[in-house]
Amino acid sequence: MSVKNVAVIGAGVSGLGAIKSCLEEGLEPVCFEMSNDIGGLWRYEEIPQSGSPGIYKSLTCNTSKELTTFSDYPMPDHYPNYLHHSKMMEYLRMYASHFGLIKYIQFQTKVCSVRKRPDFSSSGQWDVVVEVDGNQKAYVFDGVMICIGQYSEKYLPLQDFPGIKNFRGKYLHTWEYKHPDNFVGKRVVVIGIGNSGADVAGEISRVAEQVFLSTRQGTWLWTRVWDNGNPMDATLFTRYNRTVQKFLPTFLINRWIENKLNARLNHTNYGLQAKHRFLSHQSTFGDDLPNHIITGRVLVKPNVKEFTESSAIFEDGTEENIDVVVFATGYTFSFPFLEDEATLNSQHSLFKFVFPTHLEKPTLAFIGLLQPVGATIPTSELQSRWVVRVFAGLKKLPSESEMMANTNRRKQKMANQFVKSPRVVHRVQYIDYMDEIASEIGVKPNLLSLLFWDPKLAIEMFYGPCTPYQFRLQGPGKWTGAHTAILTQRDRILKPLRTRVLKQSESASSSLSWIKSVCAVICLCIPVLVSVYVMHHLTLA
Ligand SMILES: Cc1cc2nc3c(=O)[nH]c(=O)nc-3n(C[C@H](O)[C@H](O)[C@H](O)COP(=O)(O)OP(=O)(O)OC[C@H]3O[C@@H](n4cnc5c(N)ncnc54)[C@H](O)[C@@H]3O)c2cc1C
Ligand SMILES: *[C@@H]1O[C@H](CO)[C@@H](O)[C@H](O)[C@H]1NC(C)=O
Ligand SMILES: *[C@@H]1O[C@H](CO)[C@@H](O)[C@H](O)[C@H]1NC(C)=O
Ligand SMILES: *[C@@H]1O[C@H](CO)[C@@H](O)[C@H](O)[C@H]1NC(C)=O
Repeated sequence: MSVKNVAVIGAGVSGLGAIKSCLEEGLEPVCFEMSNDIGGLWRYEEIPQSGSPGIYKSLTCNTSKELTTFSDYPMPDHYPNYLHHSKMMEYLRMYASHFGLIKYIQFQTKVCSVRKRPDFSSSGQWDVVVEVDGNQKAYVFDGVMICIGQYSEKYLPLQDFPGIKNFRGKYLHTWEYKHPDNFVGKRVVVIGIGNSGADVAGEISRVAEQVFLSTRQGTWLWTRVWDNGNPMDATLFTRYNRTVQKFLPTFLINRWIENKLNARLNHTNYGLQAKHRFLSHQSTFGDDLPNHIITGRVLVKPNVKEFTESSAIFEDGTEENIDVVVFATGYTFSFPFLEDEATLNSQHSLFKFVFPTHLEKPTLAFIGLLQPVGATIPTSELQSRWVVRVFAGLKKLPSESEMMANTNRRKQKMANQFVKSPRVVHRVQYIDYMDEIASEIGVKPNLLSLLFWDPKLAIEMFYGPCTPYQFRLQGPGKWTGAHTAILTQRDRILKPLRTRVLKQSESASSSLSWIKSVCAVICLCIPVLVSVYVMHHLTLA
């Protein structure tokens, strides 16, 4: 039996990649999207629809473009390295129209239920019910790909904050936060120092009377702009680094990076000191935050113990008058349309975060349900490429017990590696995970053999940023442009920065390089001359 038609639920970046992957394998996708547009999280809306992701007006990617791209569709070379959400939408629209994906999407169609058919154990089919304009419609599908994201249901832990119900000011979640206009002259406390908390606190602090940034755990602040002004991920996420890291004990890597981050900003003095080591928890992008702290616009505070009608009392006993509380406390997720949530316990028992381990037929898959330390688009895309191979019957999954064993081993490993947190159960290392899924599909690059027939490419792949094009060089879904895309990736990183280029005659570089070569020759000669001189004297003596 081979699968023919596939329901793709959601048209965010994961859903778009899923549609494209279905088409690559000759499957027939039907994508249901409850909103009226593609893009999911990246589509900014002043008033987000309940059940959809909500972002703020200034949101900018924290992963750089060369590592965030779809693997066979590089971003235009003039795009900045870190995209504003509107630019990301522009890219997604180009991608969707280039590969003709829009015609497979049914907008304003919400999936309400996904149930096994009575003959599921032989057919593997699903009954899918959707709602359009208040009317229900039923379909039968051979496969289902769930791409609904994990940032739609706000996590608002009011129970942890006694007194918040009597607080007379306003409180909101970052899901609702759009821009700082309503915060002019206000005294604001932001709860939580994740990426959103740090962004929002900094942004509000420009207009507010005072912003307090409250954190229980502290955090490590890293930056988009890394050494020499290069994008952080493009510098650190290389195969070379990953190889080195595998040989080093974790504490040494932690020490190296923590020292580096502390050299930029003493985390203790800034009140940010984390209770965990760098590698065991998510870090926060803080290019701007130190600036807001050193100018006093943002004051870092411990956890809020309780709220009164008009103030917040912190765990250190201090009390501050407050007008607005912003909860930057993250998100939870669920799958209300699935019948047996417990059996589909997506939290823990998904084989490689994709396939439920206990189904008689592997015809249901979760895409994008992980938190890569790195970009989502390429990891989701690889998951989809694997899933369609399985759906099409070209690739078999291991037995249920093997999948369970694999899943349990991973859980154990993660428990040792990462700080326990109910909402961070899907953390994976970007390169490792992509290689793992790529091996399933047969598209993991073989660097050793590449070193023989294309050493230049192999060297860039090993020392350069580990970009998604690497998974399009061979095997199913091979793209002939991948080779060039890898060799030109550094040009695309530099192009948007070099917007003021001096002419040769104006720049000092030509004379400089002349001086440099002379210096190099002199430097090389000195030791030679010295040793000749010493030898000469020794032989004389
Ligand atoms: C503030 C913030 C910043 C981020 N920055 C980055 C970054 O810089 N780089 C990066 O790689 N990742 C980033 N991420 C992670 C981000 O979630 C992913 O990049 C990506 O947008 C996830 O896409 P998705 O398609 O999986 O889900 P989403 O974008 O959430 O899309 C899900 C879609 O499913 C639809 N849907 C939901 N339920 C139903 C239903 N029942 N029926 C029909 N349709 C439904 C929704 O309307 C939505 O369109 C960020 C996340 C957040 C919260
Ligand atoms: C990763 O590699 C870069 C240069 O390619 C180097 O500067 C950096 O120190 C390395 N980092 C780690 C963690 O190995
Ligand atoms: C931070 O500063 C304090 C006091 O100035 C100092 O004692 C401490 O060693 C510094 N920490 C680091 C990691 O440099
Ligand atoms: C980017 O921000 C999102 C939202 O806070 C987060 O989930 C993701 O881990 C961040 N990416 C990296 C590489 O830290």
